[in-house]
Amino acid sequence: MRLQGSKTKELLMRAFAGECQARTRYLMAAGRAESEGWLPVCRAFHQTAKEEEAHACAFYRLLGPLAGSQIEIIAAYPVHSGDLGASLRDAQEDEYREWELYAALSQIARDEGFLQAAALFLAVSSVEKTHGDRFGQLAAQAEGGTLLRAREARGWRCQRCGFPVYGCAPPQTCPLCGGGQRGFARSGGGEG
Ligand SMILES: [Fe+2]
Ligand SMILES: [Fe+2]
Repeated sequence: MRLQGSKTKELLMRAFAGECQARTRYLMAAGRAESEGWLPVCRAFHQTAKEEEAHACAFYRLLGPLAGSQIEIIAAYPVHSGDLGASLRDAQEDEYREWELYAALSQIARDEGFLQAAALFLAVSSVEKTHGDRFGQLAAQAEGGTLLRAREARGWRCQRCGFPVYGCAPPQTCPLCGGGQRGFARSGGGEG
């Protein structure tokens, strides 16, 4: 099976480009979140950026047999406002779009006989679903004002120093490091 002349090579390059862009968008969002003190949001964008980088590398490695060539692609990629408030929903929608897109690309690669590429598209698709879920959960908390407020007392942890506190909301200032309230995240994640 030769990649040259296949549709799959374009899909792999398109996915590589998309993953690189997602990584960059998330690093930009992480920087904004950090500058506003929202450390759990910053951490989510950072962690996801790292995973997008791993996806990009995995797609790129499969293009190895075409080393030395240029691959032209026609593809659409999102432009967002850069507003931190909107960035979580934007990211959720982008992730769910990729979840569906990669499942479709997997089928095309399979039809062309590139089973390794097909399996990779499917594996990445499943991760993008979890990314969408994670961003969606954070977006719901941000929109509902519950990033720093829980219905019942629970554990929180300062993301700067690790100091644990218990209550319906973390303190305005971390007793250990003096960091702000926005630096606290729910211990063990989750709702409530
Ligand atoms: Fe990805
Ligand atoms: Fe993702």
